[in-house]
Amino acid sequence: MCFLIIVLLTEINGTCNSKNKILSIASGTSFGRCITYCRRSINITSNPYELIALKEPNFAQTQYPSVQQQYPISSDEWQKLISLIDSKSFQTLNDTIGCPDCADGGAEWIQINWLKKNKQVTFEYGKLIQGFEGLINELRSLRDKYVNNL
Ligand SMILES: *[C@@H]1O[C@H](CO)[C@@H](O)[C@H](O)[C@H]1NC(C)=O
Ligand SMILES: *[C@@H]1O[C@H](CO)[C@@H](O)[C@H](O)[C@H]1NC(C)=O
Repeated sequence: MCFLIIVLLTEINGTCNSKNKILSIASGTSFGRCITYCRRSINITSNPYELIALKEPNFAQTQYPSVQQQYPISSDEWQKLISLIDSKSFQTLNDTIGCPDCADGGAEWIQINWLKKNKQVTFEYGKLIQGFEGLINELRSLRDKYVNNL
């Protein structure tokens, strides 16, 4: 009985108070040997519900100023994204997977900020990470939708 109560309390603590509450999910691409807009990213936050799209060059160039734009999103869109994230297994991933941008192939990254923790994982452009295919595909389609319009 006592044990059960402890388990229950731990569960409640884990869900509500929660170091595991996600504050933002960001994802982008970058190419090292590249001029013009070599870095493109989105950052989605829940407070407020919005998506910030950004494109920028690797170094300051007057012809290619950084461009950033905010878009409102719905709580449904946020929930959909959150549902694709297994926080625990994301936190166990290596920070670098494969050899991103090694042969000028480009890099792709995902950064998740929780209340008490941040983690960025960088992987080879165009590749998938096992267990995160849904998340990566959803982030790619959001990047296509928002960053391509900047
Ligand atoms: C995304 O935005 C949040 C809230 O402003 C910020 O804390 C976080 O660092 C940003 N993520 C990235 C990768 O810039
Ligand atoms: C994480 O990185 C280390 C060092 O590069 C490597 O030896 C290990 O196999 C990697 N683990 C996974 C799960 O990819």
